[in-house]
Amino acid sequence: MLTVDYDTLKATIASLCAGEDDPVALMATIACEVHHADDRFDWTGFYRVVAPELLKIGPYQGGHGCLVIPFSRGVCGAAARSGQAQLVPDVDAFPGHIACASSTRSELVLPVFGGSGQLLGVFDIDSNQPDAFTEDDASHLTEILNEAFASVK
Ligand code: SME
Repeated sequence: MLTVDYDTLKATIASLCAGEDDPVALMATIACEVHHADDRFDWTGFYRVVAPELLKIGPYQGGHGCLVIPFSRGVCGAAARSGQAQLVPDVDAFPGHIACASSTRSELVLPVFGGSGQLLGVFDIDSNQPDAFTEDDASHLTEILNEAFASVK
């Protein structure tokens, strides 16, 4: 399987985001760069924490996503609730998966933390291919998120 050139992606995102501390500006830039880095990624975007236990859609690339996700629902809610990466090889086997597109087969959702350790939201990547994501994707993308959002206090 072809994989992302994460060294190049990290360098590009670090350079585009240098000096920026606005979370939406960072999210828009990261969604764009990651989405276009690999054909496995069919929907790439953020859900933001906007109230206690509530996520709302943020910047994304791909078809429309649902607008509101409570922490109690879906893969995104599980990542927000637990603060842990959710690597889902088969969305049909994940209880409570929210299907924004019927074409989605697998999903990776990572929690997004600011520089004070506060939960800002989640980063969600959906693929139309089954079992599209690896632990390697999760760890490289986590590094990208940690580095970019450290400036958000
Ligand atoms: N599938 C996600 C919902 C977001 S969309 O895929 C864009 C979930 O179960 O949380």
